[in-house]
Amino acid sequence: MPEEKKKERAGEKVETRTYTFQVFRFDPDKGDGSSHREYKLDVARGTTVLDALIRIKEEQDNTLSFRYSCRMGVCGSCGMFVNGLPVLGCQTQVYDLDGDVVEVKPLPNYDVMRDIACDQMSMFEKHKSVKPYILRKDTKELDNARGEYTQTPENLDWIYQFTYCIKCGLCLSACPTAASDSEFAGPQALAQAYRYIKDMRDEGAKERVDIVDNSHGCWRCHFASSCSQVCPKGVDPALAIQLLKREVILHRLWLRRQGKGSELMPKKIKDAKRKEDVPDAPEKTV
Ligand code: FES
Repeated sequence: MPEEKKKERAGEKVETRTYTFQVFRFDPDKGDGSSHREYKLDVARGTTVLDALIRIKEEQDNTLSFRYSCRMGVCGSCGMFVNGLPVLGCQTQVYDLDGDVVEVKPLPNYDVMRDIACDQMSMFEKHKSVKPYILRKDTKELDNARGEYTQTPENLDWIYQFTYCIKCGLCLSACPTAASDSEFAGPQALAQAYRYIKDMRDEGAKERVDIVDNSHGCWRCHFASSCSQVCPKGVDPALAIQLLKREVILHRLWLRRQGKGSELMPKKIKDAKRKEDVPDAPEKTV
């Protein structure tokens, strides 16, 4: 139990600091206007941004809406934009933030449902589209299971960090490519595609390569790496996407060796035209 909580329970005085919480407010039932509301709160060391919001809701404004469940960085539902960064509210200590003003907004790159709660269905759909489960050809064996599909410790090591994804969606909200292309599969889904492709128990690599090998798939990633910077679990989706690109190329080369080289080329390459807004190359200088 944190020291402050122990003191509070023992009736001792707990040292606090006063913070101003500037919270984004949006009510879909009252038109499309959004605003900020300020709440002052005395906060003790050990209080997270989520704890503070819960207290504001209990003590000052019960109309404030936000989402949370586990309060321990596991369920991934308390993603929010705090002082300009996508974070988990339950993992962000108020005392660790700079200054005494805490700005809380909903995650970017998602539609806002109400106040801080946003609609993350688009991320879950993208996640579902890469088939995030073990695919097997021997379905008969699955129907009449007689044992386990085994995995070596080395194979587990290879994919282990990518299995830590809690689907909080912070990576997608930090991604500049997702901000400009709503159809981009996004770091969460692409990292999971790689995680399952490299799982030695899986036999669905071709299916997933076909899903991610397009202009809204892994090639759209420009390796800004902001997804990896904000991931609260150290998954490093940016690394997974680069490894996924390698997997796609190796898969296509394998197809070429099988005499299916035409699958390497985009189907309509003959009709390719340069976009009108792409400027001419500069004159050669030497
Ligand atoms: Fe579950 Fe924050 S409430 S991760």
